[in-house]
Amino acid sequence: MQLADGTRKPVATERMHKIFICRSCADVDAAPAGPDLAARLRARLSTSAEFGMIEVVDSRCMLSCGKPIAVSLTCPGKMSYLFADVDAATDLGNLVTLIRLYRDSPGGAINDARPVGRLRHCLLGRLPT
Ligand code: FES
Repeated sequence: MQLADGTRKPVATERMHKIFICRSCADVDAAPAGPDLAARLRARLSTSAEFGMIEVVDSRCMLSCGKPIAVSLTCPGKMSYLFADVDAATDLGNLVTLIRLYRDSPGGAINDARPVGRLRHCLLGRLPT
């Protein structure tokens, strides 16, 4: 958009990305592990300025309760993803890699999911923008 003085309006290139982690998902007779995973992910992301536009959200149920833990990724103007069966004990590093790939993809497409390890087998769906 051109302004009255002939310059162009700056375009926001940084968009807030959100990762939702279900706070209720739990295996039978087990406590929900999502809140602890979210806290550890927040702590990990806070160690690097590169993740300044990432918000970790303790989420309500995402209707994927049979495979704890449900996790989703969203950002305005990008495709969104829903995962289930995310393992709080082993997937923290995979989530960081997933966030980095998602953040760096202009439209949200992750064409090579091999770097996210077992998370690529946890994908339930991708929603268009
Ligand atoms: S309780 Fe986590 S998706 Fe339903």
